[in-house]
Formats: sequence, structure tokens, C-alpha cells
Amino acid sequence: MFDATPLKGQRLVVVGAGSRTGRALAKAAWAAGAALVLAGPDPRKLEWTAGELSGPLEVLPLDLADERSISDFAGLVGGFDHLVSTAAMPANGPLRDLELADVQRAFSAKVIGPLLLAKHLAGQVSQGGSFTFFSGVAAWRPAPARTVMATTNGALAFLVQALAVEIAPIRVNAVSPGIVDTGSWDGLGADKEAFLRGVAERNPARRVGSPEDLIKAVFYAIDNPYVTGTVLHVDGGGRLA
Ligand SMILES: NC(=O)c1ccc[n+]([C@@H]2O[C@H](COP(=O)([O-])OP(=O)(O)OC[C@H]3O[C@@H](n4cnc5c(N)ncnc54)[C@H](OP(=O)(O)O)[C@@H]3O)[C@@H](O)[C@H]2O)c1
Repeated sequence: MFDATPLKGQRLVVVGAGSRTGRALAKAAWAAGAALVLAGPDPRKLEWTAGELSGPLEVLPLDLADERSISDFAGLVGGFDHLVSTAAMPANGPLRDLELADVQRAFSAKVIGPLLLAKHLAGQVSQGGSFTFFSGVAAWRPAPARTVMATTNGALAFLVQALAVEIAPIRVNAVSPGIVDTGSWDGLGADKEAFLRGVAERNPARRVGSPEDLIKAVFYAIDNPYVTGTVLHVDGGGRLA
């Protein structure tokens, strides 16, 4: 499916490997010959992913809301080539109902956590290595009750520019998904199909995204040595329409 030869033998850390896009990415990178470190807050979910991949790989706990967890992770993981984080802890809802702790968690996943990953791990990235973080279309298409989501994803887009300059020549990029059927919309239940159909009717690509669309962008960000400080919009043009 992917021309992913450059990942062969590369040591790749996947933060969020326990579910959805992170899990799909881990499986695709594994198939492409990467040496994987599966990271995330829930060891049971990580073991679930690991159980589907035969062969040696590492599983390490990592909570982006906790600097000690990040520094402990840095102490355990050793050197690596690339890190991808799909982490998100959304705090959605009308402003009047937002709790500060939820807002802070949302910023931890998308802004403070990635900043601290760069702080604690940049010294362990090999030559030609990279960080790739996940932003999201909400930053470019704000909507009521999505203010925190819009702001965290937008801040991440600027963070990758700043980090690309500060920790150069390590490359730092973001992938910004539009509406992608990763499983995160399953909570809509019977309304999910109509929701996704409506999204596809409105966006210029006239389709909903798949995890594979996101993985292709991640592989591109990892592989292209002249791409840094960039947001790759994988949103079917949804931010424009
Ligand atoms: N799907 C879409 O339509 C869409 C649209 C726009 C943007 N995005 C962005 O794309 C990314 C992937 O989305 P997704 O749909 O695959 O699923 P998701 O449910 O948003 O994935 C969130 C991931 O973050 C991890 N996580 C949560 N708290 C964490 C923490 N404290 N430290 C480290 N990791 C933590 C979760 O770990 P566990 O596995 O342990 O739960 C999970 O793997 C997210 O950043 C999301 O915001 C998605």
C-alpha cells in the first residue's frame, strides 16, 4: 500500500499507539520494517496493539500531561529516529461549561506535551530524524463549542514552526486531519453515517478521510528531508468549504 522502504530499520516512537490512528500507524510502520516503540497512557491498550504485531518491539508508558512521565520515558527509550504523536484529549463544549482541568489536559496533549517531548527527547534523535504531531481542521474551521479544540490545534501548528527552528536540524511537522473515520466518530451511533455523508458532500474532495490517508502523510513527513516546520492538511479541503 505504501512506498515505505525508508522506514525499514528506522526506530520509530508512536505516541498514541494504543488506539485508532496511532494503532493503525504502528501496524503500517511495522509492516514497512520499522523498529517500534509503542507509547501512550494506557499499557493495556499498548499491549493490545503489540499483540497484533509479531516480533520484538517495545512498549513504554507515556502520559503527555505529566512532565515526570515524559522525562522518565526519555530515560528509558534511548536513541531513536522518528517520533509521531497522535495524542489528543479534547475539551469540547460551550464556554460556560468548560472546566479548567479539562482545558489544561487538552493543551497538554497538543501543545505542552509536544513541547516537553522536544525538550526531553531532542538530544536522542538521530541525524535526519523528525517529530510529527497531529493538529486538526478545527483550527482552520472554528465552530461553537469547539474553541479549545480550535485553539490547541492552531497553537500546535505554530509550535511546529518554532520547534523546527529551535531544534534544527531535527525536522518538526504536523499533520492536520479533517473528518476521518478512525473510529472516533462511532459515538454518534446511528447518526454517524449521515454525519460522514454530509461531510463528504460539503468538502472539495467529496469524501471522508481514512486512517490510510493520514498514514501516507506521516510517512511523507518522516521521509522527505526538505520538509520541516510545515502543516500537512489531510482534510479533503474541508477547511476551505
Ligand atoms: N478523527 C478525526 O476526524 C480527526 C479530526 C481532526 C483531528 N484529529 C486528530 O488526529 C489525531 C488522531 O485522532 P484519532 O481519531 O485517531 O483518535 P483520538 O481518539 O483522537 O486519539 C487520541 C490518542 O491520544 C492518546 N492520548 C490520550 N491522552 C494521552 C496522554 N495523556 N498522553 C499520551 N497520549 C494520550 C490516546 O491514547 P489511548 O489509546 O490510550 O486512549 C489516543 O491514542 C488526534 O490528535 C485528533 O485530534 C482527528
